[in-house]
Amino acid sequence: MEHFPIVLALLRAAVRDKPATALQQAERLREALRNAGGVDEAKAIDDVIESAKPGSAGKMVPSRVVRSRAVSAGEAMTANTFPPVDKETSAPLAEILTVDRLAELEPPLLNSRLALAVDHLTMQWAGAHELQSAGIKVPRTALFFGAPGTGKTRLALWAAARLGLPVVLARLDGLTSSYLGTTARNIRTLFDFANRYQCLLLLDEFDGIAKLRDDPQELGEVKRVVNSVLQAMDARSPVGLTIAITNHESLLDPAVWRRFDARIEIGLPDASMRQKIIERYVQGFKIKTGAIRVLTWLTDGYSGADIETLCDFIKRHMTLNSKDNPSVMAAVQLFLDLSASNHKNPIREALQRDEAHWFQQALDYHDIKIVQADIGEATNMTQSSVSRVLKRYPERV
Ligand SMILES: Nc1ncnc2c1ncn2[C@@H]1O[C@H](COP(=O)(O)OP(=O)(O)OP(=O)(O)O)[C@@H](O)[C@H]1O
Ligand SMILES: [Mg+2]
Repeated sequence: MEHFPIVLALLRAAVRDKPATALQQAERLREALRNAGGVDEAKAIDDVIESAKPGSAGKMVPSRVVRSRAVSAGEAMTANTFPPVDKETSAPLAEILTVDRLAELEPPLLNSRLALAVDHLTMQWAGAHELQSAGIKVPRTALFFGAPGTGKTRLALWAAARLGLPVVLARLDGLTSSYLGTTARNIRTLFDFANRYQCLLLLDEFDGIAKLRDDPQELGEVKRVVNSVLQAMDARSPVGLTIAITNHESLLDPAVWRRFDARIEIGLPDASMRQKIIERYVQGFKIKTGAIRVLTWLTDGYSGADIETLCDFIKRHMTLNSKDNPSVMAAVQLFLDLSASNHKNPIREALQRDEAHWFQQALDYHDIKIVQADIGEATNMTQSSVSRVLKRYPERV
């Protein structure tokens, strides 16, 4: 159905605001489509209806877009589809992640610009048929790059879940071999496999292949590997989707870099995203909003994965010591002591110095507003005690 993605987006918005009438119309449309043979479309509408039902709030159902057949050709995978292996060692070259498994994942929280870019990418894939019939090239390759732990892998898996496609996740350890010619052969085998099925090919830690370039002894072999990647990507681009991921984009061969239709940088989360990530990971825990604001300040420079680790620690500490009603900051201090860092970080230094210093730094933070009451909620102190401590700050007038 032409423009179906737009119909779906409209429905999604409508069921959020006015459930009763919108749901009724959504059900009508679903039945009409089903009767007309639009099984995929009817299923996608069903997902939207389900996500609007009471009780499903909080549960993230991937808002499925209807995948155009033009975007991923080939056979459907079954429970009996096994990943390809290295001919000599029988080591698997990839892992297959089924759609059911992917659907359990929550999406990473991204700032609105990034979310829009990713949305655009998946919508293009959903509308691939329209593009193709208009003679427009369908972009099928994307590169995600950026700092470690920022949610790149999670995002790629989420994109596949949205499209209802299983993922063929390349195993770099299985692919690379010290035997001459074997890595190149494995790459060809992997791509041949991916091209045969409807799937999204995910080349995680993609620089693992390009990195070999560092070694001058291996130059001939590296050229061969990079050439195989280039050829394999060119052959794949008319038939299926590929996402490659790297933390070391500068290591990629320029010719490989140019092969990607979309290149998306996933950066460290800003303050408002950090606040949302913290809220997600302390959900269900009685942590006051003021304490969350203080955590947002002190996680400046943290990745999403770092924030998750800190939140897990806080939850563990508060659960194990619940009878003493420990403060959030007591848990944070312990976390910092147990996770020494070799990077210089002014917030960390202030936190490990004395209360007056970190209180003042938190109050001076520009990215979100922190007040004395917030520090009180993070430390279990009254506001007047916070104020007393602050008087000790040497530069305070
Ligand atoms: N933006 C985010 N929102 C929510 N959770 C996040 C975010 N970023 C990271 N996480 C959490 O951190 C975990 C690790 O993220 P992921 O593996 O996707 O990062 P990555 O960018 O691929 O890291 P690496 O470069 O080290 O492979 C995720 O499974 C998720 O739980
Ligand atoms: Mg990753």
